[in-house]
Amino acid sequence: MTQELIVTTANAVTEIRFNRPEKKNALTRAMYDGAVAAFEAAENDPAIRVMMLTGTGDTFTSGNDIKDFQQRAESRNASDASPFLTALSTLQKPLIAAVNGAAIGVGTTMLAHCDLIVAARSARFVMPFTRLGLVPEAGSSLLFPQLLGHQRASAMLLLGDAMDADAAFAAGFVYQVVEDVELMTAARALAARLAALPPQAIRQTKHLMRRGQPDLPGRISEELELFRERVHSPEAAEAFAAFMEKRAPDFSRFT
Ligand code: COA
Repeated sequence: MTQELIVTTANAVTEIRFNRPEKKNALTRAMYDGAVAAFEAAENDPAIRVMMLTGTGDTFTSGNDIKDFQQRAESRNASDASPFLTALSTLQKPLIAAVNGAAIGVGTTMLAHCDLIVAARSARFVMPFTRLGLVPEAGSSLLFPQLLGHQRASAMLLLGDAMDADAAFAAGFVYQVVEDVELMTAARALAARLAALPPQAIRQTKHLMRRGQPDLPGRISEELELFRERVHSPEAAEAFAAFMEKRAPDFSRFT
């Protein structure tokens, strides 16, 4: 497994750490695949009660690697985050997120599938899909209006507005906000509480809470279909090139 993803297990908890700080933990195919393998191993190991996601450095994750998006568009290669999103949205055991800084794109949309979120004070949540010529994924077009209300979801999904940790707490999007240095202690304490509870009751309760979303698998597929088209669009090509060239994008020529 690549060192860009570090998977550790201790005290009945599997911790999955995005570990590519020099690229702000931008997610590559190998990192998605590693996370899927870690989810599967944790789900199948009776000794594991809880899973946790976190990141190294000042960023939880800056989302999908934009260079990968560009290469995918050029090669017409269909590989993407879809196996990760499917695995994430069908986990039976509880998943905690310890958000250690900015959570961008899929960094935020994946959180809608986490059962408890602990945010460092420096955390901020951004879904800049439209700015990149893309559409939302991970069921976020369904889940965020429900989680935050339509207006706040529009601000985040249409405008790409950021939400800071305190606003996320006020909106009920995160369970707890703690000082940055206390993040892992707080998240591990929460994991220990979950791990000490009866595992079957926990799994069944999670299932009951999650099954109120019968439209979710269909929405995830519909979003992915559109997303794959958008990655190849001229609007996205301009946005990706602008990011890599460190300039502002110009969408004025598009109709
Ligand atoms: N894909 C690929 N590379 C990324 C990346 C991403 N999603 N996010 C950051 N990087 C790279 C930068 O290109 C830069 O690489 P370089 O050192 O080779 O130039 C490096 O990571 C550091 O990023 P930088 O932008 O210099 O750091 P910053 O502190 O000024 O800003 C972010 C950090 C995360 C706010 C900013 O990098 C950003 O907005 N990233 C893109 C987020 C995004 O749009 N994600 C896609 C969502 S669908």
